Amino acid sequence: METKLLTLDRKHPDEAALSEAAKLLRAGELVAFPTETVYGLGGDALDATASRRIYAAKGRPSDNPLIVHICDTAALSELAREIPPAAYRLAERFWPGPLTMILKKSGRVPSETTGGLDTVAIRMPSDPIARALLAVSGVYIAAPSANASGRPSPTKASHVMDDLNGRIPLILDGGPVEIGLESTIVDLSGDKPWILRPGYITLAMLRELLPEVEYDPAVTRRQKDENLVAKAPGMKYRHYAPKGSLRIYEGDLERVVEKVREEAFKKQREGFRVAILASEETKGRYPEFTVRSVGDREREETIAANLFDTLREFDRLGADYIFGECFRQEGLGEAIMNRLLKAAGYQIEDVG
Ligand code: TXA
Ligand code: MG
Repeated sequence: METKLLTLDRKHPDEAALSEAAKLLRAGELVAFPTETVYGLGGDALDATASRRIYAAKGRPSDNPLIVHICDTAALSELAREIPPAAYRLAERFWPGPLTMILKKSGRVPSETTGGLDTVAIRMPSDPIARALLAVSGVYIAAPSANASGRPSPTKASHVMDDLNGRIPLILDGGPVEIGLESTIVDLSGDKPWILRPGYITLAMLRELLPEVEYDPAVTRRQKDENLVAKAPGMKYRHYAPKGSLRIYEGDLERVVEKVREEAFKKQREGFRVAILASEETKGRYPEFTVRSVGDREREETIAANLFDTLREFDRLGADYIFGECFRQEGLGEAIMNRLLKAAGYQIEDVG
């Protein structure tokens, strides 16, 4: 299959491109498209065949459920049942935007879309191209991140091309995404609300409306723990890891820089290709090495926006070993460190 790439202006998405994409979706085919978080790989959420195609194109295990994207809150009552009032409060405050809610599913949603679960993940994206595609197609779009399973989520159309070229008919290119990390997932299907995946909408923001909400302990952990199984099926898989070995260091920033330099020198002397994951504040401290700054510590949004592209960059560089700095694990930093810890396979060391 040849993969077509159509470039769209985010502010005024081209109608011909949208209707081409909408036609594919209505026919049960797949289209990759930008959202404000990451690029999604979309298919008709109510069509079991389209969902199967999504799993096949990504190489994703079929027990890992998809997120259903909507453009109108009225869709909630069609896709879900026993919807708690909190869901409408959260929708009012955070939709359209980077928040996904887990609710009990209705009979309309095929079990292929929900990985066999009795619950469904729903999100209303804010990106104008995503919204236009939902509106023009009239389809509820099931869309996981448009990466090959296990790789970092795509934040540019070129990332989607790298992973899925030849496996899907169409990619809508709307340029780099705004946020760069996947949506916050909050589970409202049980007695107590849980955050299953940290994202741009932080714990503090959710607690304003949902004081009792807590993180699933499996998502804030700092170490591998076989006894702690994540409540979101997708959070238990190995994810984001570059091909080289990534190790990260936390603690006093000066000491972190020293430690990173020391470890990098060791591996470089042994003849390995070494790369450093640094920040704007520290990138000048590693002149002997290949360095990538992931962003500005004072502006965490820049780190969120660049993290996945930087992880992919280490593969392009062919790095055998990557040594990285840690970031604050609070607010948006919770989402950043969640992804970084996974990418590092929890190889983290406290240098004091
Ligand atoms: O920002 C996003 O959420 C992006 C864009 C495209 O919207 N989508 C995304 O989808 O990140 P995906 O499939 O890569 O991640 C969905 C996560 C997985 O960890 C999955 O296990 C979890 O959501 N999930 C989906 N449905 C669920 C359910 N019913 N119960 C628990 N977890 C669920
Ligand atoms: Mg994903």
